[in-house]
Amino acid sequence: MTSFYPALRPLLFQLDAETAHAITLQALRAVQHSPALLRILTRMFAFEDARLRTEVCGLRFRNPIGIAAGYDKNAACVPGLSALGAGHVEVGTLTPLAQRGNARPRVFRLAQDAALINRLGFPNAGIVAALPRLAALRARGHAAPLGINIGKGRDTPLELALEDYSTLLQQVHPFADYIAINISSPNTPGLRTLQSSAALAPLLGALQQLRRQHCPRLPLFVKIAPDLSPAQLDELLDAALANDIAGVIATNTTTARPNLRSPAAGAEGGLSGVPLQPASTAAIRHIRKYSGNQLAIIGAGGIDCAAAALEKLSAGANLLQVYTGLVYQGPGLLQAINRGLVQMLAQRGARSLAELAAG
Ligand SMILES: Cc1cc2nc3c(=O)[nH]c(=O)nc-3n(C[C@H](O)[C@H](O)[C@H](O)COP(=O)(O)O)c2cc1C
Repeated sequence: MTSFYPALRPLLFQLDAETAHAITLQALRAVQHSPALLRILTRMFAFEDARLRTEVCGLRFRNPIGIAAGYDKNAACVPGLSALGAGHVEVGTLTPLAQRGNARPRVFRLAQDAALINRLGFPNAGIVAALPRLAALRARGHAAPLGINIGKGRDTPLELALEDYSTLLQQVHPFADYIAINISSPNTPGLRTLQSSAALAPLLGALQQLRRQHCPRLPLFVKIAPDLSPAQLDELLDAALANDIAGVIATNTTTARPNLRSPAAGAEGGLSGVPLQPASTAAIRHIRKYSGNQLAIIGAGGIDCAAAALEKLSAGANLLQVYTGLVYQGPGLLQAINRGLVQMLAQRGARSLAELAAG
């Protein structure tokens, strides 16, 4: 039932990548309005197996595969994405004010590489527009834990970034199961400099203080770039550990261009998808080794099948996220990965994902 995508994909791929994505979101929104359609979607796509269940930072996940930030920037499609079988949904990046982002075109398909390059620059309707939707989601309850990804506004000077993150945290905390602090998008000028320990330690310290005051049980995650040197990554992890951060999301898109074949390879922006796999997996492995079990890790970067998912789990990820894989493989990807993981569990006689990942 989930195999219609090979027929639909060539039609979507005739459109500009961002337009195709907007149509997909509109379709999900239309489905969400009808409980009957939502049930049909769930029947088609969702896949349950007790062995896929996992608990991370006190949160219960029905499976390890979630939707990465940027897919549903304005938190408009959470019930639809949940019906597709997502184990969690991370919405955003949300900024304090509405912003348009960079000029279009700003998302490019690299079809020969199963990759995308985007330089969106956080277009979003702003936190104030998202709050009623977030409140409604919390009131209605949802099967998949909800992460809210927050970022500095484009026009906020870097030295005032702390104020943006603080304001956002205070506004969204009642509606989130976890917060992702995005300091790693390559498309907001200067944002990645917040990853240096000189900038990060005070930022995380201030956010932890707010958390203790307002939402002591809410896990904070830091989302990192795959382009940090091992020494820079260690510094970042030291700052995270010193400030009681619950986990790291590894990784965002890369500014590197590893052996690409597609004509759009030279486009400016962040590269995601299959070519990002090795760098993001290496980052996960490094974080797990450096932090032991003190940090949870959400792994993202080119996951497009069960084997790629297992590779990241084996490198040390507790949870996983996909974005670009959905563009190339379609909405059945979540089910395909979960089915594949269950097959591997059965073949190898493992009782849990942790056992499977440990090999
Ligand atoms: C078009 C696009 C927009 C994105 N927007 C965001 C964003 O707003 N915030 C964020 O933290 N990550 C964003 N990302 C990064 C993804 O969340 C993810 O970390 C990255 O794409 C790697 O996963 P993938 O290879 O499965 O796509 C975006 C990625 C893409 C492709």
